[in-house]
Amino acid sequence: MPINNIKKYVQDILPLILGDTLFSYELSICNCNKEPIPYSEIIGNLNHEYLVLIIFENNVSTISAIAKKLSKFINKNVFYVESENKTILYWFEGEEINPETSTSSKKIDTSEHLSSAIARIKSETRLPVWLDKFLFDTLLAEYAPDFDKYDFNLNHSEIEILTYLGTYFPRSYSESYCIFNDLFNNVHFKKEYQTKEIVNVLDIGSGTGGNLIGLLTALEKNLNQKFKVNIWAIDGNQDSLKFLTKITEKFKQYSQNKFEIKTINATVENINHLSSTFQSLDCQSFDFITSFKAVGEIISYAKSKNGQEYFDLALLCCPLLSDLGLLLILDVTTKAKNSTFLPILLNEQIRRFIKANNSFRILSPLSCNFFSQQCNTDCFYYHEFTISHKKKTKDVSRVVFKIVGRKKLVDDLSKDFKIGRFVIDWKHFDQENESKCCCPISLNEVVLSDSYKLS
Ligand SMILES: C[S@@+](CC[C@H](N)C(=O)[O-])C[C@H]1O[C@@H](n2cnc3c(N)ncnc32)[C@H](O)[C@@H]1O
Repeated sequence: MPINNIKKYVQDILPLILGDTLFSYELSICNCNKEPIPYSEIIGNLNHEYLVLIIFENNVSTISAIAKKLSKFINKNVFYVESENKTILYWFEGEEINPETSTSSKKIDTSEHLSSAIARIKSETRLPVWLDKFLFDTLLAEYAPDFDKYDFNLNHSEIEILTYLGTYFPRSYSESYCIFNDLFNNVHFKKEYQTKEIVNVLDIGSGTGGNLIGLLTALEKNLNQKFKVNIWAIDGNQDSLKFLTKITEKFKQYSQNKFEIKTINATVENINHLSSTFQSLDCQSFDFITSFKAVGEIISYAKSKNGQEYFDLALLCCPLLSDLGLLLILDVTTKAKNSTFLPILLNEQIRRFIKANNSFRILSPLSCNFFSQQCNTDCFYYHEFTISHKKKTKDVSRVVFKIVGRKKLVDDLSKDFKIGRFVIDWKHFDQENESKCCCPISLNEVVLSDSYKLS
């Protein structure tokens, strides 16, 4: 079919598929025999005469439904991918080019194609320029990974904290920023937050505040109205809390919004002791309760372990959630002292908490959102985030996390989610390993979906 006819055909069918929605998009029909092809590095194997590209200037929350409808209509595979705030929908037309090459390379191409075609949570970012400068030029933070030394941070000296600041703070920043930024792109969550003027945050094991600054940055980016954030930050290391205060003060200089931070220097003997600390706070209703990489350390520190620290933390924190409140517990993927791997503990205990407390529900990962009531799997999964800054490009961190909220809120935020074959391990994801990288309860489902993407 000549290129103009393809264009006319696509122009005729698109309004039928998109209906009267107001998406603005650009349509291009590319001849794959003629370079350059836009987005070819994302699309991969160009094995047909023509590539039809529809580029939406925004993230399109209904893109999966649109691709499915279009695919049914034209009886062809239709793919989509999200890249830098654009959504790209594409498929091929015309004759297959060089079928021999495409058949011999089919296995690799298909799996690459498979993973790039699934909309995934954005998991890499850079430190904002002001923060990069402040950490490395003003505070003189050091990048020096030392896994053994930094698996327990309660008693670290100021010098050791400077290495934490240059190495591990940026990783927590990235994890927190990426998770919350994605959450704020959930249309229902965004709508709820459009008029919110006061945001109350409780953070347990704040340290120097990497995850708090990630959350504040996501709030700044996504809320259009003026707002005030009140933060209660608990940690047993007073020097770390001093750095947290300095960084928050610096953050204020770059913002039109208001931030108030109250640091609570308390060493947690075991999770249940947090109950009296919480009772002493001058706020009892929080919009975000977060704990990043602290519970594993508290388990290692506690003299009396009861083996259900994540369960106990959820039990203490969930009643303190506001109607819009979410609890995010994130941890590293190692073993706590005299215990098993933290992802296995986190999964089992939060699932047990939800089964016993039906007024709360898991929001993320989506596999747990759908299957937590029926799942009994010893599940070890993790997700990788990367962060770039002046001392390191694409530094990788590997973490496990769960987001929990009141059932009514989570039901609302998840009402557009479709059940799928949920990918929980992207690092090993390819066609051969696919089933090992997906939530085992979801394996009967056909459509692959990212278990971490909430938008
Ligand atoms: C790995 S750091 C995480 C800091 C911060 N949340 C982040 O992600 O960058 C763990 C923090 O938990 C604190 N911590 C560990 N055990 C603690 C305990 N038993 N009581 C109070 N704080 C504790 C440490 O002082 C440290 O600041």
